[in-house]
Amino acid sequence: MAPRHFLSLLDLTPDELRQIIHRAIKLKAMQQAGEIFEPLKNKVLAMLFEKSSTRTRVSFEAGMSQLGGHAMFLSPRDTQLGRGEPIEDTARVLSSMVDIIMVRTFEHETIERLAEYSSVPVINGLTDWLHPCQLLADMQTWTEHRGDIQGRTVTYIGDGNNMCNSYINAANQLDFNLRCACPEGYDPDPELIIAAGDKVTILRDPREACINTDLIVTDVWASMGQEDEQKQREKIFAPYQVTQELLDLANDDALFMHCLPAHRGEEVSAEVMDGPKSVVWDEAENRLHAQKALLEFLLTQS
Ligand code: CP
Ligand code: NVA
Repeated sequence: MAPRHFLSLLDLTPDELRQIIHRAIKLKAMQQAGEIFEPLKNKVLAMLFEKSSTRTRVSFEAGMSQLGGHAMFLSPRDTQLGRGEPIEDTARVLSSMVDIIMVRTFEHETIERLAEYSSVPVINGLTDWLHPCQLLADMQTWTEHRGDIQGRTVTYIGDGNNMCNSYINAANQLDFNLRCACPEGYDPDPELIIAAGDKVTILRDPREACINTDLIVTDVWASMGQEDEQKQREKIFAPYQVTQELLDLANDDALFMHCLPAHRGEEVSAEVMDGPKSVVWDEAENRLHAQKALLEFLLTQS
């Protein structure tokens, strides 16, 4: 039987996504109670990183250990991938030795090819197009603070990048309204917008996008691989900084999220980032719990 992969939020059903979110909340409570839970004993996760990472690497590695398994870090610098071994061959070999693979890479097509040739589940740990693991953590964080997100309004401000695209998929799957405020020329993927139907609105004015919203989300202006565009993007995105003024337009109980790493004074003011409505530290911690739930799901239930 072909393995179940997690390359996009659309690879799971809405029920499965909700199941993982609730399981993540339960696994967090178990961890905090000091309960030992090792359903993945002797299981091995290979983590292939072609880009930098703090949260994704540490959360997968710690999570796998806590579940009784083992995780190994691989980078192109010290594997044959960096010397031109095809991704298809790498997929066949890795999946003959390990139980599950996580990849962080540039083009989404690379992870699709790896998944096609892998005999074990493949998890997307970020591509230029999508960052679905982050959305599991974001949705867990929302659920913990405010309950189910269905019918709520979320505002994404900034670049129509992998985070914005993933929010569109989340709106589609979990049935919330998403307003994206992006500068012209930096919109998210039009095909994902069409697939999400009337759940997604594209706006240019961040103020309009924040009125009576429940959650404001932003991300860096220049993603990994776009470092050369940093200066130019700083000018274009300047009106899109999430400030207290924008947050004040939102509902009284609105929250602020950012996948991190954040640049205070660029996409978010320090006042918002470190303010009372920011749940960014819960959000970061939840990468651990949400991915443990995902690993358990992919290795024991699918
Ligand atoms: N949010 C996130 O994926 O962080 P890292 O780049 O540190 O993994
Ligand atoms: N959009 C950012 C997310 C980092 C977690 C990037 O791709 O660099």
